[in-house]
Amino acid sequence: MINQQQAAAPVLAVSQLNVQYGAFQAVKDVSFEVHAGEIFGLLGPNGAGKTSTLSAIEGLLHPASGSITVAGFDIREQPLHARANMGVQLQATSFQPELTISEIIRLFASIYGVNLKDAAVKQKLAEINLEEASGKKISQLSGGQQQRVSLVISTIHNPQLVLLDEPTTGLDPQSRRQLWERMEHFRNNGHAVLLTTHSMEEAEAVCDRIAIIDHGRIIAIDTPEALIAQHRDDPAVLSVVRKGKVTLEDVFIGLTGTAVRS
Ligand SMILES: Nc1ncnc2c1ncn2[C@@H]1O[C@H](COP(=O)(O)OP(=O)(O)OP(=O)(O)O)[C@@H](O)[C@H]1O
Ligand SMILES: [Mg+2]
Repeated sequence: MINQQQAAAPVLAVSQLNVQYGAFQAVKDVSFEVHAGEIFGLLGPNGAGKTSTLSAIEGLLHPASGSITVAGFDIREQPLHARANMGVQLQATSFQPELTISEIIRLFASIYGVNLKDAAVKQKLAEINLEEASGKKISQLSGGQQQRVSLVISTIHNPQLVLLDEPTTGLDPQSRRQLWERMEHFRNNGHAVLLTTHSMEEAEAVCDRIAIIDHGRIIAIDTPEALIAQHRDDPAVLSVVRKGKVTLEDVFIGLTGTAVRS
């Protein structure tokens, strides 16, 4: 059944995307859509092409071919409009080390053209339990705390689409749960989230739909439950089942193989 949100135009549409590094093709004919009110996960072994796909959407690299629209804006034809509608989680290392975190939040708000009053900055910091740390420099925070700041910054302009590359890697269980809740809150307000993850538990817990990408190609795309149901009796999946019950990880390894990637 198609609900109203899915019938509406997608927030992100990637069509026949190809990314090339010299002679090497990292992304091959990748197509998928992410809708408002959806958390979409991109899963794949190391080197599968996840970050390359995200970089193309973010406009950080020029794809060899294919089209990408964000909120209906083609990223090549109307890059500023497309970018105004997306939030990208930056690495903490890209922030100015000499500024305090409240200064960094204010700086990015002004870059995005958002007028943030002192009370609003405080509120943002309180949301990520870092109110006490507002005068600290980014380098004085732990990795997980830095990640929380960078998530706040990525959504400061209330974008329709948020792109998160392995957002929970290195987080403790509490911070991971808090980040899941923030993503769900964002989704429930009608936004769209695209994330990459190596955690099958995370994909099952928060993703409405996932795409499995391997060697640059999408090899499966569906809800986690449907993927498990579809492949439950697949001999390649059954050969890797560990504890009797078929999990998303079994399906993932069944489809992508047991070999560790170089
Ligand atoms: N700048 C680059 N120049 C050449 N090759 C690159 C470049 N960036 C990535 N690659 C190659 O493209 C392929 C896809 O890389 P990508 O970073 O997209 O993978 P990924 O799915 O994000 O992997 P991981 O899970 O390890 O983050 C890999 O084989 C990688 O070595
Ligand atoms: Mg990556």
